[in-house]
Amino acid sequence: MKENALLVPDIREEFAGKIAVVTGGGSGIGRAIAARYAAAGGKVIVIGRREEPLQETVRLITDAGGSADYISCDVRDAQGMADAINSVVEREGRIDALVNNAAGNFIVPGEDLSPNGWKAVIDIVLNGTFYATHAAAQHMLAAGSGSILNVIASYAWHGHPGTVHSAAAKGGIVAMTRTLAVEWAARGVRVNCIAPGPTETEGAGAALWGTESAREKVLSGVPAGRFASPAEIAESANYLLSPRADYVTGEVMVVDGGQWLGKSVYTDERVKA
Ligand code: HXC
Repeated sequence: MKENALLVPDIREEFAGKIAVVTGGGSGIGRAIAARYAAAGGKVIVIGRREEPLQETVRLITDAGGSADYISCDVRDAQGMADAINSVVEREGRIDALVNNAAGNFIVPGEDLSPNGWKAVIDIVLNGTFYATHAAAQHMLAAGSGSILNVIASYAWHGHPGTVHSAAAKGGIVAMTRTLAVEWAARGVRVNCIAPGPTETEGAGAALWGTESAREKVLSGVPAGRFASPAEIAESANYLLSPRADYVTGEVMVVDGGQWLGKSVYTDERVKA
C-alpha cells in the first residue's frame, strides 16, 4: 500500500536535537524508554543512585549509535535533582522531556509497614517525582515547551493489598499530573502518566513477583496471558513524549494487557478470559 505522507508521519528521527532526562534509567522500563528515545534521534541523560547500571545504559545506547549520558543522584534529594537538571540544561542548552520512572516498592501488609518504610517509598515515588518535575518545569515553561511523563501503576486508583505506600504515592502522582497539566497547558508543557502492567524487569520482578508461584498468580490475572516487554512499554511512553501526542495532557495511558479491566469474577466458562 502506498504511504500517505499526510497521515503517516515519519517518526524515525522525531527526537532529533531533543534532550530527555529519565530517572531510574539504569534498568528495566527506564532503560527501555531511554533507548527508544535515543533510537529516534534524541539524547538521553539517565539519572539514578548507582553509577554502574547507568553506565551500562549509556554503553548500550552509544554502542548502538545513540546519544546518552548519566548523572548519579538520588531522586529523594531535592537540591541534588535541581542541580542535576540545571546541569543538563547548562550542558545541552535545553530539556524537552522528563520521565519520572524511579520507584521503590516492597510487599508488606499495611499494619506491618513502619513509618520509615512508608516514608522511604513516598520520598522516592511521590516526592522524587515532584522534585524532578519542579526543576525541569522551570526550564520547560521558560522555553514554552516540554513533555513530562510519570510512570505509575493502575493500583493508583484500584489499590493493591501489600503496596499501600506505593499505591498512595502513585495516586498522588495522578493528582499531581492532572493539576500541573491544567496549570501548564497554555504554556506548552504537557504532563501525562503511563501505567504499565506486569513487565519483564528485574526491579519489579524481585519486588512483586519474586517466586514462580507469585509469577503464575500475576499472569493468571492478565487477559493478554503474558507479561509486557520493557520495549512495549517504551513504545507507548515515547508516543506520549512525542509531538504526535501534542494535544494529550493530564492523561493516564494504561498499558497492561487488559489486567485491571479483567478483575471481574467470571461465572460462565464460555466468557472466561
Ligand atoms: C518491610 C521494609 C522492606 C520490606 C524495606 N523496609 N524493605 N519493610 N518489608 N521488604 C523498610 C525498612 O525496614 C526501613 O524501615 C525502611 O523501609 C527503609 O529501608 P531502607 O532499606 O533503609 O531504605 P532504602 O535503602 O532507602 O531503600 C528504599 C527501598 C528499596 C524502597 C526500601 O527497596 C529500594 O531502594 N528500592 C528501589 C528499587 C525498587 O524497589 N524497584 C521496584 C520498583 S517496581 P525501618 O522502620 O526498619 O527503619 C514498582 C512497580 C510497581 O514500583 C507496579 C507493578 C505493577
